[in-house]
Amino acid sequence: MPPRRILVTGGAGQVAADLVPVLRKLHGAENIVAAGHETQPSEAVRDGGPFEYVDACSYQAMERLVRKYDIGVIYHLATILSGEGEQNPGLAWNVNIGSLKVVLDLALETNVDQVFWPSSIAVFGPAAPTEDTPQQTVLEPTTMYGVSKVAGESLCNYYNIKYGLDVRSLRYPGLINHKAFSGGGTSDYAVEVFIAAVKEGHYTCFVDSDTMMPMMYMDDGIKATVDLMAAGASDLSVRTSYNISALSFTAGEIAAAVSDKVPDFTYDFVPDFRQEIANSWPNSVDDSVARRDWGWSPEYDLQALVEVMLREIRLKFGKSN
Ligand SMILES: NC(=O)c1ccc[n+]([C@@H]2O[C@H](COP(=O)([O-])OP(=O)(O)OC[C@H]3O[C@@H](n4cnc5c(N)ncnc54)[C@H](O)[C@@H]3O)[C@@H](O)[C@H]2O)c1
Repeated sequence: MPPRRILVTGGAGQVAADLVPVLRKLHGAENIVAAGHETQPSEAVRDGGPFEYVDACSYQAMERLVRKYDIGVIYHLATILSGEGEQNPGLAWNVNIGSLKVVLDLALETNVDQVFWPSSIAVFGPAAPTEDTPQQTVLEPTTMYGVSKVAGESLCNYYNIKYGLDVRSLRYPGLINHKAFSGGGTSDYAVEVFIAAVKEGHYTCFVDSDTMMPMMYMDDGIKATVDLMAAGASDLSVRTSYNISALSFTAGEIAAAVSDKVPDFTYDFVPDFRQEIANSWPNSVDDSVARRDWGWSPEYDLQALVEVMLREIRLKFGKSN
């Protein structure tokens, strides 16, 4: 049987910049179709295999793509992130939920029989426990991004129960990467601090120094995604979305860890509207269900993260400081 072709939406985004090359290596470059929207993807994503543009909210456009390539699996990454979502809540709802509904309905009508869709720690709001937030708890987010993720999780669960669709999901924490910086997220400061340290020598952080949230190096996020999609369907007890966890540190701690390695780096903290979003999210999450069901475990701790990020950002910008 020929390998099943995979479609990755949000192909110009941060997660796709790392996921698409990994999937191309695993399944063959010609079998992975990356689809962007209005922004330019990285060269590796655009030139490393089939690349298309699509509005993921358009059923017709998505159907054309799925039929053209005889797609069997969709990684649906197209989104409006939390910061941009609070600036434009209507757009966040329409894209995040509208496109997910398109993907799920399309899966029922075509040969697509497996869907991956990321949720987020943004599903938790101020009413949820902030430390070791459990897999199942109160979900009352105070951002439109979080609202769309809670609705999306329920939609995925519904399509699994009602139609038997094999849809799988992870609640990603803030993902720290060096390949694509699209902005618009509330955890962006944990990437910006590295770029600013290497390029400018100073960083003004948009949340307070004691702001803590769950974070993860992108390689661990990609490993979790690939491992979840490879797990036996009967091992999965969660069809809303799995908590996964790796690191929790404050904005002050990451700035200090960078400062230890970059001489003369200075930083300060001037919170903007994203402070309120960050305050509504947990400090850490309990991922014991993911560990039990499909053997999840992260590889990168804070020290390893700082080392790899500094090395890669210096290489990217041709700096040696
Ligand atoms: N990056 C993180 O830290 C993080 C954390 C938690 C969850 N997630 C989730 O992971 C997934 C990928 O996030 P990301 O960080 O790569 O986001 P991103 O913003 O970098 O990429 C999303 C892409 O979706 C595209 N898009 C927007 N509207 C579209 C439309 N109508 N049709 C098609 N594409 C459209 C954008 O152009 C963008 O390139 C999302 O579901 C996001 O909610 C990401």
